[in-house]
Parts: sequence; structure tokens; C-alpha cells
Amino acid sequence: PEAAGRPARLLEWYDRHRRRLPWRPPAGECADPYSVWLSEIMLQQTGVKTVGPYFEKFLARWPDIAALGSASLDEVLRMWAGLGYYSRARNLHACAVKVLRDHGGAFPDTEQGLQSLPGIGPYTAAAISAIAFGRRTMPVDGNIERVVSRLFAVEEPLPQAKPLIQQLAATLLGANEMEARGGGEESRVGDENSRAGDSAQALMDLGSSICTPKKPACALCPLNDDCAARVRGDQESFPRKAPK
Ligand code: ADE
Repeated sequence: PEAAGRPARLLEWYDRHRRRLPWRPPAGECADPYSVWLSEIMLQQTGVKTVGPYFEKFLARWPDIAALGSASLDEVLRMWAGLGYYSRARNLHACAVKVLRDHGGAFPDTEQGLQSLPGIGPYTAAAISAIAFGRRTMPVDGNIERVVSRLFAVEEPLPQAKPLIQQLAATLLGANEMEARGGGEESRVGDENSRAGDSAQALMDLGSSICTPKKPACALCPLNDDCAARVRGDQESFPRKAPK
């Protein structure tokens, strides 16, 4: 296998082994921006297992942005109870109100537009724009930092290595399907029509189930053949950390 085949191997693995999570639609279906946003806000500081039931409870009570935007902040806070970091719940409500008032109820579909909303920083903007809008951008969290720093044996320590890791992570995005098909009028769009969201979530899943901090299960990894850290037998030493 060659480095050039990584995006395809990653997506093949995701199609077979992805975690079934309540906010992920069945394969081939698009996630709607509202559920992607709701799940990503909850996942900012809370694990997948805890978020599951809260996500379903919120979606049942407020199935769309209009419903959530007309709810009272008090009720949103009551429903949030137990998830912690309550500023997220305040921002969630403020964001719904703003999307309704300033954007006609439709989430902006660019990272910049998303970042203008309460509670949405660079990571969450990238996650929503890749997962909900298919934009070719890679949200890099701690799991993805670990996967990427191992794959490329990044010697620079964290946090300095963040920009480099971001750049390397983007090489794992699949080809733009429009370009891959030979272009045409639509290819001018440039950053859409990829499976960017699946590529990102594939790396998240790899990081949580296979490329774990200790004793990674390299035998099961779709990228094992050309993982630079594995070639050196040195997986656990990445990501490098600056001495305290
Ligand atoms: N953590 C943050 N976003 C996630 C997602 N979409 N799937 C799994 N874990 C996540």
C-alpha cells in the first residue's frame, strides 16, 4: 500500500467498522446540520457514551432549530442537567435563536460563517462543515492528533506541532469526487462533494478503538502498513510532548 491510498483505505474501513452512534445517519445518507451541530456541542467536553441519551432526548423534545430556538432557556438548562459545562447549554440556545433570526433558520455552510455563532469555535466549525456540508476540512481533536502524529512519526512536540498535524491530517481527506470524475462545471465549487465528514469520523473512530494511547491494536488498523511510528516499533512514544 502507498501513502496515496490512505484516504481510500480509511473510508473502506469506516464503511465496515464505524461505530453506530445516534447522530450518525445510515451509510450514504446525509446528516442534517441541526443534529450534527447538536451532537458536536455535546461532544465538546463529554464522551460519546454519555452524550448518546442526551442527544436523543434533545432531538425528541426539539426536532429542529425552530423548535429549540423557541424553547425557554430554563427548559434547555433543565434538559442539559448532568452534562456539565452549562455555558454550552446557554450558547446552544443563543445559537439556535441567532440562526433563526439572522440566517432564516439555516446554518451557515462555511467554517467562517459557523464560527460567528455562539459556542462554535474552530474545531466545531470544521466538524460541522465536514460532516454536515461535505466541505474538505479536517477537525483535529486529541484522538486525531495521536493517529496522525504516529502515522507520520511527527517529531515536533505538542502543542507546537498542531499546525503541522493539521496539515498532515488534511492529506487523509478523500479526493474531491467532482475532480476525481474529471471535473466539469461543478468542480469549480472545489471543496464540496467529498466524504470529508466520513474521513474525519473514521480517524476519530480509529483513535478511540484502535490507535489508543497505550497498546494500540495495530494489527487491525487499515493504515498499519505505512505507519511510520509502527515501522520504528515506537507507536506509544507519539505524540511527542514538550518536557514540562
Ligand atoms: N467527537 C466529536 N465529534 C465526534 C463524532 N462526530 N463522532 C464521534 N466522536 C466525536
